Amino acid sequence: MADLVKICQKSDVSEDEPLAVNPADFPALAVYQVDGDYFVTDNLCTHGNALLTDGYQEEGVIECPFHGGAFNIKTGEPTAFPCQVPVKTYNVVVKGDDILIEKAINDS
Ligand code: FES
Repeated sequence: MADLVKICQKSDVSEDEPLAVNPADFPALAVYQVDGDYFVTDNLCTHGNALLTDGYQEEGVIECPFHGGAFNIKTGEPTAFPCQVPVKTYNVVVKGDDILIEKAINDS
C-alpha cells in the first residue's frame, strides 16, 4: 500500500469553502468538501496563474477567480471555458478526523 501523507483535518474544510494546503513534495493543493465527502486537486488553475481556493465552490464545481473557467472537483475535468486541460486530482483517504493523500511515487 502506498504511503499516506496527512494534509489537514476534516474540521479544517467546510462545504463550499476550499482549503489551500502546501504539503512537502507536492505542488500547492486544494482540499474540498462536497456532500460530506472530501476531494483534493492541484490548487493552480491549468489556464493561468490563479489559485482555485481563491475562487468559488458551488455544487461540486470550483470556479477559478480569473476568467470564469471552472472544474469538476471530483474528476478534475474542465466545465467552463477557457479551462480546457483537466486539473490533477488525488486519491483521498479519511482516517478519523485526518485527511490523507497517497505519497507521490514516480508521479508525473
Ligand atoms: S487562470 Fe483560471 S480560468 Fe484563467
